[in-house]
Amino acid sequence: MPSEDPHSLSLLEGLHSTPARRYLSAEPIPDDVVRALLDAAVRGPSGGNTQRWAWIVVRDAEVKRQIADWYREGWERSYGSRREQILASDDPQGMSAATFRAAEHLANHLEEAPVWIFPVLLGAARSANPRLGSSIYGAVQHLMLAARAYGIGATLTTLYAAHEDDVRRLLHLPDDALTMALIPLGYPARGRWSQPRRRPLDEVVFFERYE
Ligand SMILES: Cc1cc2nc3c(=O)[nH]c(=O)nc-3n(C[C@H](O)[C@H](O)[C@H](O)COP(=O)(O)O)c2cc1C
Repeated sequence: MPSEDPHSLSLLEGLHSTPARRYLSAEPIPDDVVRALLDAAVRGPSGGNTQRWAWIVVRDAEVKRQIADWYREGWERSYGSRREQILASDDPQGMSAATFRAAEHLANHLEEAPVWIFPVLLGAARSANPRLGSSIYGAVQHLMLAARAYGIGATLTTLYAAHEDDVRRLLHLPDDALTMALIPLGYPARGRWSQPRRRPLDEVVFFERYE
């Protein structure tokens, strides 16, 4: 459902209530809202403010169907083939059954998300810089938090990536461009804007030196 006033959510409230949303309705997202999300995204940082990026909005059913098939190959290889094992596991460090089911649902319904965004780094395809992503993932998070303000769910996904060359061709990207994610957007069909569960701060924060 389109949300209430997108300006009413405080920044910190948004930061604390934006989990991955994988159950999405097919309800269209208005063009001006998609534009507002992208306008928030590009306020994000890039090294030297070079902004060597492109943001591809995909709504075309045929393009989505093709990429969703490639995504499902990745899903099957990485997770689907271990379905029973993951669902039966009680390893607290592993993927929870609820996350598995949600991710499986997204894999099976990816093309139903009304809008997809591919954040793309230009000139990055052959980069060996391990910090490459830092010039776009801040902006990607802006996009997902702006979506949250409009009541739109999102998940950063990468499971299509074994087909990077195919995706590049399909989206008519330059040879040296690298897609950095696929973000399916849609109004949530299930679930809540709950605080994401994370390891306790005391386990992951260190003062002055790592211990
Ligand atoms: C680099 C990266 C790749 C990801 N790839 C996928 C993906 O392909 N499919 C998916 O469903 N979720 C993907 N995710 C989402 C993570 O599973 C999610 O951020 C994590 O489970 C935390 O979820 P939460 O914020 O709802 O707790 C990815 C996240 C990151 C940061």
